[in-house]
Amino acid sequence: MEKTFLMVKPDGVQRNVIGEIVSRFEKKGFQLVGAKLMNIPTELAEEHYGEHKERPFFGELVGFITSSPVFAMVWQGENVIATARQMMGSTNPKDAVAGTIRGDFGLTVGKNIIHGSDSPESAVREIGLFFKEEELVEYNKLM
Ligand code: CMP
Repeated sequence: MEKTFLMVKPDGVQRNVIGEIVSRFEKKGFQLVGAKLMNIPTELAEEHYGEHKERPFFGELVGFITSSPVFAMVWQGENVIATARQMMGSTNPKDAVAGTIRGDFGLTVGKNIIHGSDSPESAVREIGLFFKEEELVEYNKLM
């Protein structure tokens, strides 16, 4: 089953939209298989965002994501990586259409509410950075 890493960023946590965001993915039909509220250590933030190391906003990005707790999650389901990205909307909330998470709750690219893996390779990498295998659950089919 395909899995992805999603994270409500500090702005989303402080705006009290964790529940709303979890609800959207639940209602879509995806399954939550891991979740934790955590402060991200600087080294983990730098590794997670390693591909942006040379960007002028890297310091700001790492500073923001480590500034206050995030809600890290692993979700599973059919095409969850691409579908979650659609549900999140464009990276810059000003381009994100209404009905998407960033379109509904975000205002600026730096504080864009949520992060989601952009490919199967990123999903495996990011899940491995944030979760130990034993922190993820498996479901027995009830319905
Ligand atoms: P995310 O999906 O977490 O992946 C990288 C992040 O970099 C992105 O969301 C944005 O929040 C952030 N980002 C992209 N462009 C800029 C920018 N110009 N200034 C600040 N942050 C940015």
